[in-house]
Amino acid sequence: MAYTAKEDRYSKMKYNRCGRSGLKLSALSLGLWHNFGSCDNYDNMVAMVTTAFDLGITHFDLANNYGPYPGSAEENFGKIMKHEMAPYRDEIIVSTKAGYGMWDGPYGDHGSRKYLIASLDQSLKRMGLEYVDIFYHHRPDPETPMEETASALAHIVKSGKALYAGVSNYNAEQTKRMSEIMREMGVPLLIHQPRYNMFERQIENGLQTVLEHEGIGSISFCPLAQGLLTNKYIHGIPEGSRATKSKFLTADRIKPELIEKVVKLNAIAEGRGQTLAQMALAWNLRGGKLTSVLIGASRPSQIEENVKALENSEFTAEELEAIDAALAD
Ligand SMILES: NC(=O)c1ccc[n+]([C@@H]2O[C@H](COP(=O)([O-])OP(=O)(O)OC[C@H]3O[C@@H](n4cnc5c(N)ncnc54)[C@H](OP(=O)(O)O)[C@@H]3O)[C@@H](O)[C@H]2O)c1
Repeated sequence: MAYTAKEDRYSKMKYNRCGRSGLKLSALSLGLWHNFGSCDNYDNMVAMVTTAFDLGITHFDLANNYGPYPGSAEENFGKIMKHEMAPYRDEIIVSTKAGYGMWDGPYGDHGSRKYLIASLDQSLKRMGLEYVDIFYHHRPDPETPMEETASALAHIVKSGKALYAGVSNYNAEQTKRMSEIMREMGVPLLIHQPRYNMFERQIENGLQTVLEHEGIGSISFCPLAQGLLTNKYIHGIPEGSRATKSKFLTADRIKPELIEKVVKLNAIAEGRGQTLAQMALAWNLRGGKLTSVLIGASRPSQIEENVKALENSEFTAEELEAIDAALAD
C-alpha cells in the first residue's frame, strides 16, 4: 500500500529562512550520499525517507554521483518519489549537484556550462522530476571562469529546471565573488553547503561572515563527522558501520586520541540529557547561524533519535567551554 504521511508532521520541526530568500528549510535535512546506492536495501531507503518526512524533514539532498554506482541514489530517490511521495512533491525540497567526476571525457567533471547543464538533465531523468528545487555547483573549479559557472547556474534557474542555485565547498573569497556575479545576473545565490562539525570548524574563519553579509543561507554537511561524533565507535568499530564499508571513512582514522575526545564529549552530552549524536547536531544548530543541518543515516531509528536534537539546541557558556576543552586536549 502506498505511503500516507502523518498528519502531525509539521508540529515539531523548526523551519528556518534560507538567507534573505523566501524559502524556508527544515532545521534538519536528510542527505542520500550513503545507503541509497544500488547495493543498498530499497525498503530501508523508503523507510528512511518516509520516517524523515513524517518527522517534518522536508529537504532531501542528492548529487549526480551519489551511489554507488554513481547516479543510483538519484534513481532510487526517483522511485521513492514516484511510488510513495508523489502527492507530496510541493511539500518537498529536492536538491542535486554537479562538480565532481561523473562521466568519461573532458565534459563530465568540474564547472563548465557544458557539464552542469548536461548533468542536471541527466539527474532530472534519473529522478523522474521536471525540476529540482536547488541545484548546486558541488566544488569550485579553478580552471573555469567563475562567470561561466555562474551563468550556467543562472540559465538553469531561468529555464525552470531548478528553482534556486547554490554552491558547495567554496571558500569565503570564492563565495563572495560568486555571490556578486550571480546577483548581477539576477539570480541570487540561495545557499552554501559547507562541511561543519565539532572537529572541522573552518567555516568559522571567514565564510560565515560572508554568508551573513551576502544574505546567503547555509546547510552543513557531515555534522556527525560521518558517525565519529556519536557513541558508536567508543568500544570499537561495529560491523556494518560506515567505517567498515566506505572509502570516505576508513578505520585508520579512528585512533585512540580521537576516541578519548569522543568519550569526553559523550559525557558532556549525557550531562545535557542527550546522546552525543543529538548534542553534535544541537551544536551545529546553536545560535541559529545555519539554516539547516544535513544528516545522513543508515536506518530510520537514527533519524528518530537525531530529530530529538531540536528539543535542546541551546548551550550554556560553560557547556561550550567544556566542549572546546574536550576538543583541544
Ligand atoms: N557537498 C558535499 O561535498 C558533501 C559531502 C559529504 C556529504 N554531503 C551531504 O551531507 C549528507 C550527510 O553527510 P554524512 O552522511 O556524512 O552525515 P553525518 O550525519 O555526519 O553522518 C551520517 C552517518 O552517521 C551515522 N549515524 C547517524 N546518526 C547516528 C546515530 N544517531 N547514532 C549512531 N550513528 C549515527 C550513520 O552511519 P552508519 O552507517 O555507521 O550507521 C550515518 O550514515 C550527505 O548525505 C550528503 O547529502 C555533502
